[in-house]
Amino acid sequence: MRTSKLLTISVTVALLFFTSCGGSSDQGSNDTGNSSSETNTPKQEAVSDIGIGPITHVEIGDEIDEQLAMHGKEIFESKCTACHQFDERYVGPALAGVTKKQKPEWIMNMILNPEEMTKKDPTAKGLLGEYMTQMTLQDVSEEDARALLEYFRKYDAEH
Ligand code: HEC
Repeated sequence: MRTSKLLTISVTVALLFFTSCGGSSDQGSNDTGNSSSETNTPKQEAVSDIGIGPITHVEIGDEIDEQLAMHGKEIFESKCTACHQFDERYVGPALAGVTKKQKPEWIMNMILNPEEMTKKDPTAKGLLGEYMTQMTLQDVSEEDARALLEYFRKYDAEH
């Protein structure tokens, strides 16, 4: 009696094992099913890491591109200083150290897509809650945003 019960259990376990094995190997050979679950995971991480916007990847050199940084400084002084300083909280956050806090892609997406960022990116949303002012797009191109990023990198490298 006992033995036959055990046998039934082990047969069931063996059957379950084989069924689940068959199931997963079926999925493995199904490329679309597999790759969609793979792309889903990094996408979710990307929301807080690189933010939301046109920038998905930015090449950063080891050295600061001085010329690009100077161009960024000009844009910063004409379009951003109404709300930002480096060392002190103003209308918006102090920007000193921002390149150490945020990924370069996140910074560029914040500059290029601030309104969606404050709605959907958890960090930007938190900042809006704290500063109670919506940062708006300042008529900057992707090239301008890249130059601004270089200026922030230069600032953070020197302070
Ligand atoms: C109208 C005021 C205003 C202007 C103009 C403005 N910002 Fe902002 N900025 C903010 C506010 C406020 C926040 C915090 C998020 C929010 O509330 O929208 C912010 C957030 C940021 C952040 C994220 C800071 C952090 O601590 O992570 C960056 C980077 C930034 N701004 C860069 C810029 C740049 C570059 C410009 C010029 C092209 C600019 N901002 C123009 C108000 C402004």
